Amino acid sequence: MSRPVLFVTRRLPASIEAQAEQDFVARLTDSDVAITDIVARAEGADAVLCCPGDVLDAATITALPTSVKVIGTFSVGYDHIDVAAAKARGIKVCNTPDVLSVATAECAMLLLLAAARRAGEGERLVRSGQWDGWAPTQLLGTQVSGRRLGIFGMGRIGREIARMARGFDMEIHYRDMTRLPPELEQGAIFHDNDDSFLPICQFLSLNAPGGDGTRHWLGEERIAKLPPGAVVVNAARGTLVDDAALIAALRSGQIAAAGLDVYNGEPRLHPDYLTLENVVLLPHLGSATTETRDAMGRIVLSGIAAILAGETPSNEVG
Ligand code: DGY
Repeated sequence: MSRPVLFVTRRLPASIEAQAEQDFVARLTDSDVAITDIVARAEGADAVLCCPGDVLDAATITALPTSVKVIGTFSVGYDHIDVAAAKARGIKVCNTPDVLSVATAECAMLLLLAAARRAGEGERLVRSGQWDGWAPTQLLGTQVSGRRLGIFGMGRIGREIARMARGFDMEIHYRDMTRLPPELEQGAIFHDNDDSFLPICQFLSLNAPGGDGTRHWLGEERIAKLPPGAVVVNAARGTLVDDAALIAALRSGQIAAAGLDVYNGEPRLHPDYLTLENVVLLPHLGSATTETRDAMGRIVLSGIAAILAGETPSNEVG
C-alpha cells in the first residue's frame, strides 16, 4: 500500500523527521518559522502537521485541498485550529496530550520561582557588571513556601503544577468549571466562583486553554480581586491575559511580579513588558525539553496515521 503524503509546516526533532519519512511520504522543511502559505503547500497531501503559530482559521481550512483528511498539531493546545470548520470539511484533528504536562508544569514553576525571587533582575544585575556584592536589602523577593497558589484550569498541566507546588508546601486552590474527583483533587480546594477564588491567590497560575471562552480572562476586574502583591504566572496561552491591565497592575504593585511564557500575538509582545523589571519573560518554552518534544512528535504522528487508517485515536480532538 502506498504511504500517505504528510505536509509538515515546521522543522521537527531529527528522530521525529526520520519517523515521518518512514511512515509517510513526508514533505519536510528546515524552517522554524510559522508559514502563511499552508493551503498552497498542502496540495496533494493527505495530512498536515502544523504547530502553534500556524493559523488554521475557518478561511484557511475551507481553502485546503480536498486531499487533506487530517490536521495534526505538534502541541496540546489547538486554539490555532478552527476545529468546527475542520469538522464541517470532514477533516479530523489530533494533538499531543499528556506527554508535555510535566515539562510545561516545570516551566510554570520556573516562572513562579523566578518571578517571586526576582531571578530576572538578579541575572541582569550580574551580567551588567554592576553587582557590588551581597547586601541585606538587595533584591528582596517573596517567599513561595507555605503560600497559597490558585490554579485557573485544573487539567493535566494544572494538576502537575499542583503536585510540584505541594513540594514547596504551597496550599493549592483551583478554579474550574467542575470539581475534580478526590483522587485527582489530592486535597486541592475547589472554587466555583471568582469571588472566593481570586482573593486567596497569593500566587496565580493560568492553565486554562486559549480561545474565545477564556480571552482576556485576567483583566482589570479580576486583577482588582487578587490580594495586593500577588504573583501571576502564565505558561498556557497569551490570550488569557489583558496585557494593558496586567502591565498597569505590575506598575502599581497590585501585582508584585509576573512570569510569562506566552503572549498575545506572539512572537511579538506588548512592548511595555520589556520596560518592566518585575516581569520574567520566556519565549514559549513550556514543552521545550528534548524528551518531551520527541514524545510529542511520536504521539502526533501515530494519531495522524491512525486517523488515516480509519481509527479513532485517543488524541483525536473535537
Ligand atoms: C502546547 O503544546 O500547546 C504548547 O503551548 C507548546 O509548547
